Amino acid sequence: MKLFVLNGPNLNMLGIREPAIYGAQTYADLEAYVRQVCQREEIEVEVFQSNHEGVLVDIIQSAYGKADGIVINPAAYTHTSVAILDALKAVALPAVEVHLSDVSQRESFRHVSYPAMACLEQIKGLGFQGYEKAILLLKDHLSK
Ligand code: DQA
Repeated sequence: MKLFVLNGPNLNMLGIREPAIYGAQTYADLEAYVRQVCQREEIEVEVFQSNHEGVLVDIIQSAYGKADGIVINPAAYTHTSVAILDALKAVALPAVEVHLSDVSQRESFRHVSYPAMACLEQIKGLGFQGYEKAILLLKDHLSK
């Protein structure tokens, strides 16, 4: 089983950006956490981060034929990107959307998610553990 884990804009600034919302751990910590969960679950993983919408679209397209599922935190593109929604629909791989913060408790513009329309579930407000939940959800889904 192979998963792609994708992270969108400004997540490379974890540890520096708004620590009251996103915590003190860095992006390197997040990547290490995801790799450790996947190793434990015997899942192959490729982890990506980009600040560019088109690059995220390219990575989603490249998952076709390579990955069995996608975990995605589209970050700010969550609330704007029809292109990311369409890319997820195009490859038609099972996907789960993750947010570190609870977007439903923040500004109203964060309540809208385009990519979530192509995802099995949206997980929010669990910090790094949201990624673990998404990985386990996809593992369970793919094992059926
Ligand atoms: C985020 C929530 C988004 O609204 C925001 O733009 C981010 C991070 C999260 O993980 O909580 O960059 O996706």
